[in-house]
Amino acid sequence: MIQILKGDICYSTDRNTLITVPDGFLVWENGLCTGVFDRLPDQYSRLPVEDCTGHLVIPGLTDLHIHAPQYAFRGFKMDLELLEWLNSSAFPEEAKYADPDYARNAYSIFVNDMRKSATTRACLFATLHLPATELLMDLLEESGLETFVGKVNMDRNCPDYLCEESAEASAAATIEWLDHISGKYVHTKPILTPRFIPACTDELMTRLAGIQKAYGLPVQSHLSENPEEIAWVQELVPSSASYGDAYDQFGLFGGDVPTIMAHCVHCPEDEAALLKKRGVYIAHCPQSNANLTSGAAPVRAFLDQDQKMGLGSDIAGGTSLSIFRAMAEAIQVSKLRARFTGDGSRPLTMEEAFFLGTKGGGSFFGKAGSFEEGYECDILVLDESRIPHPQKLSLKERLERYIYLSGEDWILHKYVKGAKLF
Ligand code: GUN
Ligand code: FE
Repeated sequence: MIQILKGDICYSTDRNTLITVPDGFLVWENGLCTGVFDRLPDQYSRLPVEDCTGHLVIPGLTDLHIHAPQYAFRGFKMDLELLEWLNSSAFPEEAKYADPDYARNAYSIFVNDMRKSATTRACLFATLHLPATELLMDLLEESGLETFVGKVNMDRNCPDYLCEESAEASAAATIEWLDHISGKYVHTKPILTPRFIPACTDELMTRLAGIQKAYGLPVQSHLSENPEEIAWVQELVPSSASYGDAYDQFGLFGGDVPTIMAHCVHCPEDEAALLKKRGVYIAHCPQSNANLTSGAAPVRAFLDQDQKMGLGSDIAGGTSLSIFRAMAEAIQVSKLRARFTGDGSRPLTMEEAFFLGTKGGGSFFGKAGSFEEGYECDILVLDESRIPHPQKLSLKERLERYIYLSGEDWILHKYVKGAKLF
C-alpha cells in the first residue's frame, strides 16, 4: 500500500546534513520510504494525502539505552553516584518486579508513556525476573513500538534479594526466557543483557557468550560510566587491558555481535580504539551522566573517530523519556566539556544532535531514523501549539526551538514502520 503525508519535513542524511522540505510530500510503500518530494509526482496524484500542512514532520527517535523497571523512581535519590545509587535506589526498586502484579502496574504506566513519547524504537533493560520481563515484552508488542528487550543477568556483587543464584542458574534462566518467547513477537526482540562487569562472574560471561552464539543475539551493557566502577572492573578482571577489553575477552564486545555500550564517559584511548574496531554502538546518555555526577562523555572525539553512536535516556539515571531533551542536553554537556577541558574541541551542533537521536541510534535497527529511500518509515508529526511565535521561522529554526523547548514530547501523530499508532 502506498501512503502519502504532507507537511514541513526535516530529516538527516548524515551528521552534518539536515534536509528541510517545506510543504513537502513524504511517500512510503508497505512501511518503507519511497522518498520526500517538494511536488507530488504525477503517479501519486490520485492517492489520498494525510494533510499535516504547517506541522513539522520528522523521523521517529531512538532511545538506545533505558531501564524500564526504573521508570517509577525517576527523580529520587539523585544526589548519589553510580555504585551507591544502584545499591540504595535501583536494586531495591528492581526487586519489586518479582511480583507480577507490581510489574503489570508499573510497566503499564511506563509503556503507556513510551507510546505517547517521540520514541519509536528503543533498547531496554528489564530485570532478572522472567515473568515480569515477558510481561514487559507483551505490553511493548501491543504498543506498536520497535524494541529490543533484555532479561538482565547478574550473579555477583548485588544484594541477595536481587542476585541470581549462580552463573549456571542465570544462564539456564536466560535460555528458558529465550525459548519461551521464541516466535511470540513481531516488533519485540530479545537482546542479551549482562548488567555490567561488576555484576557478572567470569563463568557467567563465558556462558552468555555461548548463548549469544547459539541464538545469534545482540548484546547491551554498560561501559566506563564512573571512575570507581572502572577501578573495580580492573580489580575484578586483572588480566583486562581496559573495561572494554574485559567484555572483549569473553567475545561480548561487538565484532560480529551487534553491541551497545551505554555511557563511555571515561574511555581511555585504547578502549575507544577497540570500540571503533569492533563497531560497538555508544549510547550517549547526557542527562544520566550529569545526574549521577558521572561526567561529560567525549562526544566530539567519538564523532571525529566516526564511532557508531546514538542517544539514551538511561531512565532512571536520566529522569526524562524525551530524546529531544537528550539532544539538547548532549549539546549543552558538550559545551560545558569544551569550556572546562579547554581542549579546543567543538561542541556538538544541532544537526549532529538531531542526527544522533534519529539516524545515528536508528541504524542499530537497520535502515531506520531517516526518510531516505528504503528506510523503515517511522514518522513524528510535531505539535508546536504550546510554543507560538510572532514571526515566520525557517524549518531549521523551528526544529532547533522544538528540541530546546519541548520539556515533554508534544506529538500529534506517530507512525512506526509506516503504521499509524495515533
Ligand atoms: N550500571 C549497572 N547498572 C546500571 C544501571 O541500572 N544504571 C546505570 N546508569 N548504570 C548502571
Ligand atoms: Fe543504564
